[in-house]
Amino acid sequence: MSDYKYSTLAVHAGQYPDPQTGAVNVPIYLSSTFELTGIGTDKGWDYSRAGNPTRDRLEEALAALEGGKTAHVFGSGMAAITALVAPLHAGDHMICSHNVYGGTARLLDQVICHYGIEIQYVDLANLEALKTALRSNTRLVHVETPTNPLMQLTDIAAVCEIAHAAGAEVSVDNTFMSPVLQSPIALGADIVMHSTTKFLNGHSDGLGGVLVATTQAQAERIHLIQKAMGGILSPFECFLVLRGIKTLPLRMKQHEENGRACAEFLSTHPKVQKIFYPGLESHPQHDIAVKQQKGFGSMMTLELGTQEAVGRFLAGLKLILNAESLGGVESLASHSATTTHAALSEERRRELGITPGLVRLSIGIEDKEDLIADLETALAAV
Ligand SMILES: Cc1ncc(COP(=O)(O)O)c(C=O)c1O
Repeated sequence: MSDYKYSTLAVHAGQYPDPQTGAVNVPIYLSSTFELTGIGTDKGWDYSRAGNPTRDRLEEALAALEGGKTAHVFGSGMAAITALVAPLHAGDHMICSHNVYGGTARLLDQVICHYGIEIQYVDLANLEALKTALRSNTRLVHVETPTNPLMQLTDIAAVCEIAHAAGAEVSVDNTFMSPVLQSPIALGADIVMHSTTKFLNGHSDGLGGVLVATTQAQAERIHLIQKAMGGILSPFECFLVLRGIKTLPLRMKQHEENGRACAEFLSTHPKVQKIFYPGLESHPQHDIAVKQQKGFGSMMTLELGTQEAVGRFLAGLKLILNAESLGGVESLASHSATTTHAALSEERRRELGITPGLVRLSIGIEDKEDLIADLETALAAV
């Protein structure tokens, strides 16, 4: 399969006809348990928490799309991040991008820190800060690039080189880019994580998460966590992601085209005080985006000045929905401070630059002229 080009992989990796029936689509195996062939022998599966034929196919597909060795899927992106950090031990040190998804910060600050794991947030765009932060007990450097919602970028290859020299593994949350637009493993990452809820599923109808591993040792470690902690993805939702990824490359083309068009329109609009979109030459890290991404995606954030301005903007939208989440076919807008980053204290939001006037856009695959017209009408109300 690895000889095929990307769009072919998206349709066929893990998605071959069912050997028993010839069904072209992967069947949804709704069975919690499987008949054994004897004592200690089976046909490949024994119990669905440990493994399920539908889930196996999705994991095969996702490993191929990210260029990894294996993939393990979980009930949500947060369950995948939980499985990522679960193998850490008391006394270990973990470094995390300073401006991550609020749910990741909530997990690390309100749950994982209680297990004696020290978590340090570092601006990973600053490689000197990373060098200073690394310690002999640093096991993991977790990168989110672009960051949520400020669209700051991290040079993945540079971080991997520095972290590996210090003996730490690097994981990358690739949710905002999708495997089509960014390949962290090719840049040196050890583990790739996605909330499959977003672009991979693509239709806003199911939650999920994945960890893609690059070595057998990681694969075994993650499989143990998946089986022991049990945060698996259901066979039905595995099917939805399998179906979604068949059109992922096609959808990403449209997301990309629409994202660029909307960003260009918004970058010159007088009501937009600032726009954060790595595809614009004015973005301070545009060069990193050009170097490590295969596109700029369709995520962007606007500064409209005040929470009231954001309220008027959201109320003025007719087509773009005021809803949290991203990566679906439909365009969404959300007020970062009260949605994705509500878990952070006001002080932490202020430190990070997540102001009350920020609104994040996930541009979908509708007609770009309709989207721009909707943005124009809503901005007129600001
Ligand atoms: C970048 C990023 N990582 C992880 C998550 C968590 O994923 P989920 O909502 O599927 O648990 C999200 C959710 O918005 C996200 O945006």
